[in-house]
Amino acid sequence: MKNSTRDNFSVEKMRTDFPLLVNAGDSLHYLDNAATTQKPNVVIDAIADCYRHANAPIHRGLYPLAEKASHLYEKARSTIAKFIGATGEHSQQLIFTRSTTESINMVAQGWLRPRLQKGDQVWLTRMEHHANYLPWQALCHESGAQLKIIELKKDGRLDLENCSGLYDSTTKLIGITHVSNVLGVINSIKEICAKASEQGIAVMVDAAQSVGHMPIDVIELDCDFLSFSSHKMFGPTGIGALYAKAERLNEMEPLLLGGGMVDTVNDDVSSWMPYPAKFEAGSQNLADALGFAAAVNWLDETGMELMHAHVTELTQYALDSLSKLNNIEIYGPVNAEQRAGIISFNLKNVHPHDVAQIAGERGVAIRAGHHCCQPLMQHLGVAATARASFAPYNSLHDIDALLDAIREAKNMFA
Ligand code: ALA
Repeated sequence: MKNSTRDNFSVEKMRTDFPLLVNAGDSLHYLDNAATTQKPNVVIDAIADCYRHANAPIHRGLYPLAEKASHLYEKARSTIAKFIGATGEHSQQLIFTRSTTESINMVAQGWLRPRLQKGDQVWLTRMEHHANYLPWQALCHESGAQLKIIELKKDGRLDLENCSGLYDSTTKLIGITHVSNVLGVINSIKEICAKASEQGIAVMVDAAQSVGHMPIDVIELDCDFLSFSSHKMFGPTGIGALYAKAERLNEMEPLLLGGGMVDTVNDDVSSWMPYPAKFEAGSQNLADALGFAAAVNWLDETGMELMHAHVTELTQYALDSLSKLNNIEIYGPVNAEQRAGIISFNLKNVHPHDVAQIAGERGVAIRAGHHCCQPLMQHLGVAATARASFAPYNSLHDIDALLDAIREAKNMFA
């Protein structure tokens, strides 16, 4: 990681890396980073360079261009794996997928499904995104296992003191988000993994909102499975990753069968390659893997800790400013140290879609809706919230623009 200091962190300089932001200038205040981030030039160039100079099938051709493509693909795997602490032989435990959603479905179908029985429990949290909720709910319906929920305290943090049976021998898996895409809450994954592992319970971590925003070490976390998406961490859409412990990958069945993942195919029986190939059937997405690795290199070069500190400052400024407004409800902890750069809120008597539309008309891009978290919305007693989410290229000026938009929405509907 680059040894930078706060003094040489410049939002203005960083924005020059992002052509969409440069082109939009002051007409855009992009605060929808939890949905997807903007892309720096190095990512866009890596994808274009791949098609200009390295495009060939990977792990299939013996000619030099194909060998170059295979080498670059594997280099991208080790770059991304290293970024989450999976160095050396652990880099092979990173599987390329299309997304966090695909990664979680792979684990549900390939690992939990053959193991889950009536009488078992699967624990999730009240703040899970649908991607880390629906695959497990479907398996519980199918097997007769019980779906249990870790509920929330008033400030939105997990109520881990009141979930008796969480670490029982009947619990097969705990599915937990690292950072809530609505509340911004950061969960204590390491503590949960340590307790779960004592009982042989697997933990599936949805790290879609954290990997690009705070340093992560999967070996230190000791999680069984961890999924994330490139497009939420400055990389291209359409590619993500699943990291898993070696023993889990050996136990897991592949979801997709086809070319590239087989060892031998006979009339009746076939056998699979070892991981990661076992889970990567079909022609792989080379260009986006290279774009994904370029995003990780960009994050490393720029300095994750610096960016995280900047986003935490923005978040605290936004929390303090928003809480001074009347008739606003802010969800999640009030201290930015306890959350990521994600703030969901509602204005009294104003529908969040109206807030987002008025903001949009002023060039402020925020999301409004249930954020693919209907169980959480039901718990909060609302159908939807407005949500602003920050990235290192955001400035106080972007947040001031949001505050102006909110004031306007309040005036229009008050
Ligand atoms: N998980 C994405 C979001 O929160 C879709 O916007």
